[in-house]
Amino acid sequence: MRKSQKDKSILLWLISFAKPFKIWILLAFFAMLIVASFELLIPINIKQVIDNIVESKSSLNSIKNHSYYVLFLIIGVFIFSSIFSYILNITGQKIMRNIRDSVFDHVLLLPQNFFDKQSVGRITTRVTNDVNALNEFYTNVLVQFLKDILVIFGIVYVMFNYNSSLTFLMIFITISIICFAFLYRKRLRRVYTKLRLTIAKLNSFINESIRGINLLKIYNKSDQNFTRFEKLSNENFAANMEQMYTFAIFRPFIEFMSVFSTAAIIWYGGREIISGNLSVGELLAILFFLRMIFRPILDLADKYNILQSALAASENLYEIVQVNREEYGEKIFPSDFKSIKFKNVWFSYKDDNWVLKDFNLEIKKGDSVLLLGSTGSGKTTIINLLLGFYQPQKGEILIDDIPLKNYNFFSIRKNFSVIMQDTPLFNIVLDDENINSISSVKSVGEKQVSNVKRILEKPFHVIILDEATSNLDLDLEKDIKDYLENIKSKTSILIAHRLNLIRDEDKILILHNGRLIETGKHIDLISLDKEYSKIFKFNEEFFQSKL
Ligand SMILES: Nc1ncnc2c1ncn2[C@@H]1O[C@H](COP(=O)(O)OP(=O)(O)O)[C@@H](O)[C@H]1O
Ligand SMILES: [Mg+2]
Repeated sequence: MRKSQKDKSILLWLISFAKPFKIWILLAFFAMLIVASFELLIPINIKQVIDNIVESKSSLNSIKNHSYYVLFLIIGVFIFSSIFSYILNITGQKIMRNIRDSVFDHVLLLPQNFFDKQSVGRITTRVTNDVNALNEFYTNVLVQFLKDILVIFGIVYVMFNYNSSLTFLMIFITISIICFAFLYRKRLRRVYTKLRLTIAKLNSFINESIRGINLLKIYNKSDQNFTRFEKLSNENFAANMEQMYTFAIFRPFIEFMSVFSTAAIIWYGGREIISGNLSVGELLAILFFLRMIFRPILDLADKYNILQSALAASENLYEIVQVNREEYGEKIFPSDFKSIKFKNVWFSYKDDNWVLKDFNLEIKKGDSVLLLGSTGSGKTTIINLLLGFYQPQKGEILIDDIPLKNYNFFSIRKNFSVIMQDTPLFNIVLDDENINSISSVKSVGEKQVSNVKRILEKPFHVIILDEATSNLDLDLEKDIKDYLENIKSKTSILIAHRLNLIRDEDKILILHNGRLIETGKHIDLISLDKEYSKIFKFNEEFFQSKL
């Protein structure tokens, strides 16, 4: 996609979130128009009062009325500013919530390979920080900026009616300050980027250190770790200092310019008054205008920064939303299925590092399959493919001779009970029961027990245990074995590197280098006296030597 075209679609995407709130945004816009015009009317009124006094045209009564009018305008500015920031902030928060919900909803349904490429930290940042960056943009920058622009145009228009050369003087001063602000902006951005980078580094370092605190202690690396931390901490300090210096020059310089230009305008305006081209009231109003112009300029650099990060943030978010969700069909998994087949399946996670090579397998309903193979031989990959987490590059996976991709993945995953070797215990996400025990620390084995229990409680048709018993003691493993005995009629796929769970009727598959090299029952494979019998003998010897 071309850059400008992409920007356009990002913008449309952002606007689509604002659409439901268009009446509120319109209201905020009107409130803003009122604030802008009231702000302009205040100096204009003051000008009239002063000029009337100077020209001795005013009665006490009219001075009183004018003062009331100014008071009314000031109160109006106060009320409408509140209304408009109230509306904006509420809508902004609502829009953010919707964007956050929609991005996360999308992320949850993304295919597995998206998560292989992106780190958890990055996705987290997208869903939280990036959305917040957008919020600041909506509420603090966008409408505020429009208001400032309107006020500035109004001021220039009114001033031109008072005195054109003075207006030019002010425009000249203002433009030079804007130029300065923009030059500065570059430096500010560099400083900000550096600061953010050092904070990110510091955070991830602390994170890793605390997670691995026991390793640090075991390897006696605490001191070394602290030295590295000190270095990062100092980098952060230096970046903060740089930011401080940058601001220490920027803000005071603008303040100085503000006073300086006040002096310049009094000097030039005074001469214009004497030569009759300007009234005293007009000079006073212009001094007011000057103040009103300086505030937005002062904020310009900040706002530009917010704009920048909002643009970057929306691009990041948009990129995530653009990633296609998992694709699947409509067919519901048949509970009385006959067979699951892998037919000449080739699969690689990346490029042509084939994990499965021309892999064939047939599992019939009611089969008990035991899959053996060394670490990294592709056992888990087979399960990943079966559950539709990844698509094979070549070949097909068929359920009752219908390609897997025609099935609704939800119905497949619902009918498969899967316990993976690294199934974590979701304290919060999976069940409510555990919410109260978040703080209870569980050992890996304990976690596995509760996982296994929970997963076994759901109704299912195929059970898959992927090295699920590796952290269990022999008693619990025995329980699982008994359990499997009880559900013999169901289809089961067992992956194990210990042979404790083997039963006579199991169909044993030996996976090697992405291919099945041996299949058969225990007795047959033993008499074949090849790979399986080697594994079996080794296991026996190993456990005997332990007893
Ligand atoms: N998400 C992934 N991205 C890239 N490569 C992977 C991924 N998961 C596994 N692999 C690679 O695929 C191969 C098979 O892995 P796996 O199926 O997990 O083996 P097993 O379960 O038999 O130990 C390994 O070489 C592993 O490094
Ligand atoms: Mg595995």
